[in-house]
Amino acid sequence: MKGNLPMLAGKRILLIIGGGIAAYKALELIRLIQKAGGSVTPVLTRAGSEFVTPLSVGALAKSKVHEALFDLTSEAEMGHIELSRSADLLVVAPATADLMAKMASGRADDLASTLLLATDKRVLVAPAMNVRMWQHPATQRNLGVLRSDGVLMVGPDEGEMACGEYGPGRMAEPAVIVQAISQALGGGPLAGKHVIVTSGPTHEPIDPVRYIANRSSGAQGAALAAALRDLGAQVTFVTGPAVVPPPAGVEIVRVETAREMAVAVEAALPADAAVMAAAVADWRVANASGQKLKKDGSGKAPALEFAENPDILAAVSKGARRPRLVVGFAAETVDVVAHATAKRARKGCDWIVANDVSPATGIMGGSENAVTLISDTGAETWPRMGKDEVARKLAARIAEALR
Ligand code: C5P
Repeated sequence: MKGNLPMLAGKRILLIIGGGIAAYKALELIRLIQKAGGSVTPVLTRAGSEFVTPLSVGALAKSKVHEALFDLTSEAEMGHIELSRSADLLVVAPATADLMAKMASGRADDLASTLLLATDKRVLVAPAMNVRMWQHPATQRNLGVLRSDGVLMVGPDEGEMACGEYGPGRMAEPAVIVQAISQALGGGPLAGKHVIVTSGPTHEPIDPVRYIANRSSGAQGAALAAALRDLGAQVTFVTGPAVVPPPAGVEIVRVETAREMAVAVEAALPADAAVMAAAVADWRVANASGQKLKKDGSGKAPALEFAENPDILAAVSKGARRPRLVVGFAAETVDVVAHATAKRARKGCDWIVANDVSPATGIMGGSENAVTLISDTGAETWPRMGKDEVARKLAARIAEALR
């Protein structure tokens, strides 16, 4: 799809233009949405109108530009509630830190924030701000709130900023925003496809209060589920007790043990693809106690016996309802490629995403990953990048494979 404009034929976009130097890019965005067959109803915030004029926005959009909450004429023609619902999608570009804060706290003190609160449609936000403002804990907190409210995000990009600083904060390019709009409207390459993602650690009880676990944060699995969702997939996200919260817009199935995960995955079949990113415990405590184990004063430690857990990846790969594409992960500490290649054959999956989780790499529980993709054509090593980026790249490959 790269380079080609997606189809937005007949789609109505309510475009909220916030205040910021990136507002000039909103003009290009209007043009591209129209080129893809969509129409734009523009809303300009007071700050936005300091950067682009209502005249240029209205002329390009071939539409009235809405600016004020209490505009009698338009309230007579179309109230703000109706305005917020007559569109197929609300897009905020650029979204300033202030606009994001208002959205996160549910304020409605001007037309833009009122429309965002009153809408029953999905909202796509393209943040643009100074790097320090983006990285500020308050903005990051608001971002988390918006994500968990199901708000879609595109960007920001990293790069040189108009203010002379360097880092994340640049608004995504208009062509990329148009792609995100198309995906938000269900036009992604994975539209109509069902993908199961397993994620997080499992907890294997020793007694009612103690368990055996591992250091998986669930970050890679959550990022993958979000990336697949963003490409239009219907995602069933089967997650163990992870640190990282599950993404919005996916079906979440929470489990605790490997055996519960195996049942949940089986119940989620059939699927077009299964991506097993969970760090499933190989063993469970066979003699787990129904009551809390107590020291008996003898100085003798309880002897735990172990039983092997079901191998979910192998079972799905070799099962009767095998998805077209099955992807496993291999967390290794030595001889990563050799071990992962052997694992691919043993488990019967199509791809293995292998990574080195030695403590020195900081990958387990960290925000970055360095992976090697092993398929029937060999091993392909990707440079170290953010787990979000690994997820997007892998989701794009999955979309290609399911085409
Ligand atoms: O055998 P190992 O645990 O290294 O294999 C890792 C891959 O297998 C991962 O994709 C993991 O999600 C999956 N797995 C599983 N069920 C298990 C063990 C691992 O699905 N019991």
